[in-house]
Amino acid sequence: MHPPTLLTATALLASHDSAACTRSSLTDATAAYIAWQTSGGTLSSSSTLTLSANLTITENDVVLPVAKSTLAQPIAIDFSRSFYDPVSCASFTELVSTAKTHPYVIHTHLFFDPDSLKLASVDSVVTDDGDWVFDAAGYLKWTKQEKWDTIPEARRNTRAVIKAAGDAYLDQWGNTSVSVPFATPCARLEGGAYTGERSPTTNSCKMGAFPQPLKVANRRYVIDEEVGAVSIFNGFPWLEKSKPDGATPSSNQIRVEGGLIRYIHEITVCETKRCGR
Ligand SMILES: *[C@@H]1O[C@H](CO)[C@@H](O)[C@H](O)[C@H]1NC(C)=O
Ligand SMILES: *[C@@H]1O[C@H](CO)[C@@H](O)[C@H](O)[C@H]1NC(C)=O
Repeated sequence: MHPPTLLTATALLASHDSAACTRSSLTDATAAYIAWQTSGGTLSSSSTLTLSANLTITENDVVLPVAKSTLAQPIAIDFSRSFYDPVSCASFTELVSTAKTHPYVIHTHLFFDPDSLKLASVDSVVTDDGDWVFDAAGYLKWTKQEKWDTIPEARRNTRAVIKAAGDAYLDQWGNTSVSVPFATPCARLEGGAYTGERSPTTNSCKMGAFPQPLKVANRRYVIDEEVGAVSIFNGFPWLEKSKPDGATPSSNQIRVEGGLIRYIHEITVCETKRCGR
């Protein structure tokens, strides 16, 4: 029999380390990020958040120093909703500010080093005036009314099912034969416009075909099985009229219940006002 020496100790340490990235630690770290965005500037020394030496901040697909990022300015936040992905050691947050000085709707992926829990990357889709049907007050009104609560364990879907539902939604933009598992009702919040306004009980998220098939690429995911949520950051092709062959930064935040899509929140960045449309 081999004596339980260093190997066992190392294995124990390793399992202890990866256990650092729990739902609870992600919740605390994400709250500290929201506090940072609220106060703006450099991270307060009293913050529980610790930054990786390699922290990368990306906004709308552009890498920025902290001082040039949205984190550098204080934002009065009216509403936030976060969900957590311990498997990827990541979180998703939606932030809404209706501040008269500068309204925003921001979706953010935080990725942490799973051993140290240091913040390794902040990837955000930052929308404001002129972006696709942007209306922070409308967004606030509708998101507040929705329920993104914890799904009882027996009714939860797997990561794979949740991800597949989100992917099917985006795949359908490029191939109208792809069937998308929409619930009835299903509501889509797009900028500040809400399909759920039409009929709260029978509303559908079904979309008409785009003028041309759209291949939605550059997808990045954060998935939370407890709330049935998947956040997909992606490029939105075609929409920006001035860049017919490009894709503009976009976020799709999706809630799945019983395998079916219940809510979609989409925010999309435009280079020209309303993407020229
Ligand atoms: C930071 O980046 C350097 C250079 O790419 C790399 O050697 C190092 O392991 C990284 N550190 C962390 C904590 O990721
Ligand atoms: C379109 O989707 C259908 C249904 O999933 C699939 O059978 C077909 O191969 C897809 N077409 C292309 C060009 O990907």
